[in-house]
Amino acid sequence: MYEIILAGQRLIVLGKADLIENMNIPSSTKTNYPNRWPNTEGFVEYGFDGVGVGFNNVHKSWNYNRQFFSQALMTPSFNYQAIEWTNELWNEMESYWNNLGEDYELDLIKWMRRFANEMIFRISTGVKNDALASYYNKITLENNNINPLNEFVESLETYIEGILYFFAFSKFIRHYLPFIRGKVKKLLKNKDYLFNKLYTIVKERRNEIEKTPLDQPLRHDMLTSYITANTPRDINIMKHADADLLRPMTDKEIFGNILDAMIGGTDTTSNLFCFIVYHLEHYPEVKLRLRQEFDRILGNDLTRPITFKDLDELVYCDAVIKEVYRHTPIVFFLGRVNAQNDNVGGYNWPEGTQFQILISVLMKHKDYWTEPEKFDPDRFYKVEESDKYFLEKKKMKNTFQMFGGGIRICPGRKLAMIELKCLLILVYRKYDIELVDKNSPLKYKRDFFNLCKELAVKVKPRKF
Ligand code: HEM
Repeated sequence: MYEIILAGQRLIVLGKADLIENMNIPSSTKTNYPNRWPNTEGFVEYGFDGVGVGFNNVHKSWNYNRQFFSQALMTPSFNYQAIEWTNELWNEMESYWNNLGEDYELDLIKWMRRFANEMIFRISTGVKNDALASYYNKITLENNNINPLNEFVESLETYIEGILYFFAFSKFIRHYLPFIRGKVKKLLKNKDYLFNKLYTIVKERRNEIEKTPLDQPLRHDMLTSYITANTPRDINIMKHADADLLRPMTDKEIFGNILDAMIGGTDTTSNLFCFIVYHLEHYPEVKLRLRQEFDRILGNDLTRPITFKDLDELVYCDAVIKEVYRHTPIVFFLGRVNAQNDNVGGYNWPEGTQFQILISVLMKHKDYWTEPEKFDPDRFYKVEESDKYFLEKKKMKNTFQMFGGGIRICPGRKLAMIELKCLLILVYRKYDIELVDKNSPLKYKRDFFNLCKELAVKVKPRKF
């Protein structure tokens, strides 16, 4: 446990499981840690005040938005839809890769960011934004203005990159320090552009729905379910004890949830996919076992679409994803703020203390993990009394928090695992991925998240 002062804010950093035991209670009435960050003026300036879920500290408003967010992503029909779209989008990406040829050097992170963005855009708005097509056009043609949504995708990328400036720098630094001042100005201009576009998407869809006769079905996407929630068109009848949760959502609330889905669903899955590829190419014995699992499930069929049942059977794949995350987490710390005084680590902390749980440390601590530096997915694979990881598997609740925990646990966790598993099986059943520079360390930067800077690969037909 130690403290740091960042932009005038005091942060208490925690790196042991016993210190965080009561920080992830999954009940919103019982937890003393309902929020992740305080409402800093930086976050307010960047547009996070009281909207969406991720940065929303107004409990009633968070609760209201979160119920719709989780409902949209956790229903079984949604899983099938997500798998279908992942299959479809992979077919598209595969055709671009084939056109480029097996000797073409792909920067995998650039492709994956576009892939994840197009998936989450479609899931949240129902519209295909052609992020992949426009990237393909950008690298193959002079003219990259094929789709105006290209600008939107880049604007979202810039917005996400900018979060750190509004988290780590005080108002004075942001607005008066040379260089930073210029960057912040651009970020705010970009924010206005992005917010405008998102509001327009919400308004246009609302108009479309209003013009659709009641007896005609609407398409399934997050945006439609938000606009129709608690209206006569609502397809999800929800039972609530709390009457406050029964009103329709406003445009501002819908905008906040859509923005959060895009922030949460773009950099996480895309970066993790690259980290997985990097590890598989360095641990051939793990790749071999993974492929044996894929082949067992699919047989010799290299073309059939992946189904939900296939994904359910991918237990070794699940373990590989978790072990890669333990070594290279995307979200490496979790923020927590206490609503009332609390005793943590033998000290009394006043209400509103800002804690940071360093999950990157917890996931590598020698007290919790056998040979913590060793890359071995078996530590997450099937619990058997005879295996050497038996005890650490039993204790993982507070030591392995890939998706966080408690009431703020990631609502996109199911979608993330679907996308990752589906894409891994689709790629590796048919192709070999070669790292252009196998000796290079993984190139990533530690921003607000751990982000892959570049991963140059060549994709070749699989050698059987
Ligand atoms: C591999 C992929 C992903 C990882 C590793 C990940 C990880 C996390 C973590 C660690 C948190 C913080 C939880 C806490 O504080 O306890 C979080 C929150 C969140 N994630 Fe994810 N996430 C992933 C994918 C997604 C996707 C695909 C979406 C959207 C569809 C999403 C949306 C969110 C949102 C909205 C929150 C804030 C929840 C709240 O405050 O109530 N995430 N995620």
